[in-house]
Amino acid sequence: MTAAELEQVAARLAVTIAADGLDGGLSGSQVRRATRADGTPAVVKITFSRSGWDRTAAERELAFYRTLRAQVGVRTPELLGHHRSDECVAILLSAHASIRPAERWTRELWLALARDLAVLHETPKPPGGQWRHGADGIVPGSDPERWRSFWRRPGEADLFRPFFDDPESLISAARTVPRCFNHGDCHTDNLLVDDDGLIWVDWQSTGIGRPGGELAFAAGRATPSGATVPLADMIELYAELRGLDPVELDRTVVASGLATVLFVWPVHLREDDSVAADRMHHHARHLAERWLAGR
Ligand SMILES: Nc1ncnc2c1ncn2[C@@H]1O[C@H](COP(=O)(O)OP(=O)(O)OP(=O)(O)O)[C@@H](O)[C@H]1O
Ligand SMILES: [Mg+2]
Repeated sequence: MTAAELEQVAARLAVTIAADGLDGGLSGSQVRRATRADGTPAVVKITFSRSGWDRTAAERELAFYRTLRAQVGVRTPELLGHHRSDECVAILLSAHASIRPAERWTRELWLALARDLAVLHETPKPPGGQWRHGADGIVPGSDPERWRSFWRRPGEADLFRPFFDDPESLISAARTVPRCFNHGDCHTDNLLVDDDGLIWVDWQSTGIGRPGGELAFAAGRATPSGATVPLADMIELYAELRGLDPVELDRTVVASGLATVLFVWPVHLREDDSVAADRMHHHARHLAERWLAGR
């Protein structure tokens, strides 16, 4: 993104845009603080892309703020303006509090997340083809040889063998609870924290998915940080709020978390001896033992 392009977006949205970015940015998006003509603070998220995944995701997030925001039942920023051209999609959002690193999340925050998810997941499935449909199975590019060579610390080969021999057992267990509306990228970097609770941002991946997958993802994504996630209590609260069987929900969350950890993480992560890697291995073994104990 050139300075001239940024200037053009600022002019269209009638804001001045700060020079440095906010955190995030794994996607092709830039997120910056901005100031409106009346002096109020705002946040601008700009995706410079003509086509492909980044463009689709940016259009999806804009569509979310324009058409679904009022229905989802959780707090999200307000859409204050937007700008679309062949080159970019830009959204101007109300500015809110900051994120809080996962390791500093309290038990109350994790339970607030479970409560918010129970509300969000009751959103009626939206019409239109722009919403994302989660993979609902093993990701492309993952293969048993890679799993076996990644998970090779002492004891892991024996513990994980049943899952590598029969991945479908986990995948089908992850599919037992019906699909629902999902945030799609539910982790602590996309949740702003203020005195009243959580404010949900980053709706680029929103769509339809499994409720257990979303709960498991939030917990799994926090694992490398060393966060203590009260997952069992979150599952119980969520099940109660949605009138689901807590035992069935627990099984599907554990299956989903384990399938993601065992089959997907090796695609994305490099094995090393860091503290974060130790925590991942511990998390994987803990989930596997929990799954096997419940059979
Ligand atoms: N309305 C807002 N108010 C305050 N901070 C915000 C707001 N929106 C985003 N942020 C901050 O900016 C960061 C990045 O925003 P966002 O998550 O939307 O984009 P991203 O992570 O760069 O995109 P992606 O996840 O699609 O790669 C967030 O983690 C949060 O810290
Ligand atoms: Mg984000």
